[in-house]
Amino acid sequence: MIDESKLSSLLLENITLRPIEPHIYSVYPQEGHTNTYDKIWSFYDLVMGNRYYNRIMWGYRIADFSSFCHDSLASSSDGWVLDAGCGSLVFTSNTYTGYSKRPVVLLDASLQMLRAAKSRLSRLNGNVPANMVFLHGDVLHLPFKPGSFRTILSMNVLHVLPNINGVLSELKNALADGGTIALTSLIANDRFGDIYPKLLSKTGQLIPRTPNQILACFDELGISTSHYVRGNMLFIRNV
Ligand SMILES: C[S@@+](CC[C@H](N)C(=O)[O-])C[C@H]1O[C@@H](n2cnc3c(N)ncnc32)[C@H](O)[C@@H]1O
Repeated sequence: MIDESKLSSLLLENITLRPIEPHIYSVYPQEGHTNTYDKIWSFYDLVMGNRYYNRIMWGYRIADFSSFCHDSLASSSDGWVLDAGCGSLVFTSNTYTGYSKRPVVLLDASLQMLRAAKSRLSRLNGNVPANMVFLHGDVLHLPFKPGSFRTILSMNVLHVLPNINGVLSELKNALADGGTIALTSLIANDRFGDIYPKLLSKTGQLIPRTPNQILACFDELGISTSHYVRGNMLFIRNV
């Protein structure tokens, strides 16, 4: 089991870990830190868990995420894994279930999303896998020592944040030399004239960017990448 002292070994000196409940810790100094997903988590879970919604509205298959996550986990046989903005694991819980090779930190700024992820993993696995721990924290202010993670996965977080460069700098700093970083983001790519993404962007739930805008941010930080697109989803990793 990843206990407080094992998790603390990854943290910067000025960071204090606050236990929330079994398997969940917070790096926020006080209770009460919330974000939008604390309110919409069950709706998100219901809608995004629907394969027809994803296929018809966004043009990708839910299974595309499983294989992306699987390949990221398989990219190394040792070192820590970070899932930054893991949410409720609605797309990836199957891939994480039964994965025991490396320690995994599942980080999110929404405690409700983390609780949903924990309960989903527990349901599928029978319990929370001993190599996994949930951390309530901010991708824009990661609490980790530089180079702590051999693999960093961050799915569908870029498109909800205005400051991509801020997120990428943080992730790059947390990545070990030679490590793998793998991200996905919803994009604008002219499917149906991108009417639906434009609608969601008006509600503040999505910042639609083109693949080139996102790739340019990786370039600026000196991260070489390869990528592919499925419908409105960009899958990108460093090379
Ligand atoms: C669109 S959801 C994606 C969740 C999950 N990765 C998935 O693919 O289903 C975006 C997630 O990012 C989290 N998030 C948003 N801003 C964050 C931040 N600054 N730090 C950490 N997590 C954040 C939200 O709480 C939410 O769980």
